[in-house]
Amino acid sequence: MKKNITVILGDGIGPEVTRQSLKVLDAVAEQFNHEFNYTYCLMGADAIDKTGNPLPDETIESCLHTDAVLFGAIGHPKYDNDPTAKVRPEQGLLKLRKSLQLYANIRPIITYPSLHHLSPVKSKNLEGVDFIIFRELTGGIYFGRKEMNEEKTQASDDCVYTKPEIERIAHLAFRYAQQRRKKLTLVDKANVLETSRLWRKVVQEIAPQYDDVTVDYLFVDNAAMQIILNPKQFDVVLTENMFGDIISDEASVLSGSLGLLPSASVGTGTALFEPIHGSYPQAAGKDIANPLGSILSTAMMLDYLNMREEASLVRQAVDWTLQNGFVTKDIDSINFYFTSTIGELIADFVNNKITGEVNKKNIELRKSTII
Ligand code: IPM
Ligand code: MG
Repeated sequence: MKKNITVILGDGIGPEVTRQSLKVLDAVAEQFNHEFNYTYCLMGADAIDKTGNPLPDETIESCLHTDAVLFGAIGHPKYDNDPTAKVRPEQGLLKLRKSLQLYANIRPIITYPSLHHLSPVKSKNLEGVDFIIFRELTGGIYFGRKEMNEEKTQASDDCVYTKPEIERIAHLAFRYAQQRRKKLTLVDKANVLETSRLWRKVVQEIAPQYDDVTVDYLFVDNAAMQIILNPKQFDVVLTENMFGDIISDEASVLSGSLGLLPSASVGTGTALFEPIHGSYPQAAGKDIANPLGSILSTAMMLDYLNMREEASLVRQAVDWTLQNGFVTKDIDSINFYFTSTIGELIADFVNNKITGEVNKKNIELRKSTII
């Protein structure tokens, strides 16, 4: 198969983790006889530096006419600490989500037995955790009217949702639930917010169409607690934009590292794949960031491109690195491997170059405890 992929390396560690995904994609292409054509585009602080615009028109054009978008990370501290900045890197990502109508952000949460010790949650509560967060991505408080009075003493962000916006992601989440353990949890704040009451009403209206799926409802404050106390209870979690942003970072501590979590943003047009972590500027350029969030996002992209066997091989390769202690600094701060080494190992595994026992010594040479 031939596929065109728009690659946005982005900011901070974005370029170095995404390059590992490209190595893995090249290995997949070789192994399965595919052709991936990459078009590189700008977005974020990198784009502001080079063009003055966090999302140049050429980037939108390329994304609209490609088979999938692979994205690294966004953000730079010089904007985070300047609340008066008129142009911000994140505006680029929000505009791209809106332009591609990526209304659903899908964030799977699983745990790995070899990493249980990294999570602050007790191992017995981590075994068998496997849920998926459906976060609405193009509405709510992120996109409502924003105002600041002239004296700069009062500000507001409107949270608006329409019935069709809720319906389309709810249908998607219900269909996923049908393929899984058939449980859907709506996370909202319906005891306080009008928008949340609309979410509940719409989900209740739709539910009878999926009568094999059990639906329950949790207020977001309680959900935040339940994710830590009893994460096994969740199968598909459906929620609005802001709550989804918050609980997905929270849920990442179950896996052991934010660096492991992938995501897919899907909608009416091209889909976009990105790790859920940020640009982690302190690590940029040091070859220490965890590339697995990006590589697992690439696996989600392969699934989306209908390359299921390819996706499953990439996941198998990731599992193999974790099981054999080939991990980055976020996972083992003493015996860690470089970002680029993990990328190479996963590409080699995909290319069937890793057979039997690996001579760790050869790889050990590239291990560093200096940084
Ligand atoms: C995410 C990020 C973004 C968001 C930021 C970078 C705008 O935190 O994808 O979770 O808030 O959606
Ligand atoms: Mg976030």
